[in-house]
Amino acid sequence: AAALFTSGALAGLRVVITAGPTREALDPVRYLSNHSSGKMGFALAEAAVDAGAVTQLISGPVTLDTPAHVSRRNVVSARDMLAASEELAPHCDIFIACAAVADYRPLQAAATKIKKIHADSMELALVRNPDIVATIAALHPRPFTVGFAAETGDPVDYARDKLQRKNLDLIVANDVSRSDIGFNSDSNAVTLVWPAGSRVLDMASKNTIARGIITAIADLYTHRGQ
Ligand code: CTP
Ligand code: CA
Repeated sequence: AAALFTSGALAGLRVVITAGPTREALDPVRYLSNHSSGKMGFALAEAAVDAGAVTQLISGPVTLDTPAHVSRRNVVSARDMLAASEELAPHCDIFIACAAVADYRPLQAAATKIKKIHADSMELALVRNPDIVATIAALHPRPFTVGFAAETGDPVDYARDKLQRKNLDLIVANDVSRSDIGFNSDSNAVTLVWPAGSRVLDMASKNTIARGIITAIADLYTHRGQ
């Protein structure tokens, strides 16, 4: 800790990381959400601090302690997360979108609890949420922008498509159909995909994977534009 902010692969750089799920209110007691423990994002924040970065977490609702030396902003919905990201990202060098953002939200959140009355079925009208990482990647100037891709099937193909569509510098792809990794697990295996290449990080603890991702980000950041 003595060397904090003075040495390391990200020394002096500012990193903002989104983590955890978002919750989209249906009424005062119900919401739509995604599976996400937040562990990967929090492990990335810890690894970024260890690499010397000034690190901020924008976190959805999770039950994790904030890593030492990380400043944390709590948010609930995707729109809250976008607002916090638009506030913090213009001041950072590297933006990492690790959150499992709900793609849709209810068209209207009911002000009072929805009663079941007599209906045997009901329909929900949903609208698309804004894409946070694509919004940040479209800023001028923009931070070095990293996305995640949770896929079932061939993660690398989908990741390359997302990399281009969202104009990202790096995508971290994982195969969420594997029951041994991801979500609430303590380990993970990922494929890093960037415009000029790709690399597999073999199955390891989320802390080890986080260090591998941060090392790769530092490397690509240092050589950006070359
Ligand atoms: N993401 C985001 N804002 C959203 C949706 C996703 O910032 N509204 C980010 C995630 O944090 C992740 C990346 O985009 O870094 C990819 O998320 P993913 O759900 O895999 O991709 P989508 O673009 O939402 O496409 P789909 O779910 O249809 O595969
Ligand atoms: Ca999605």
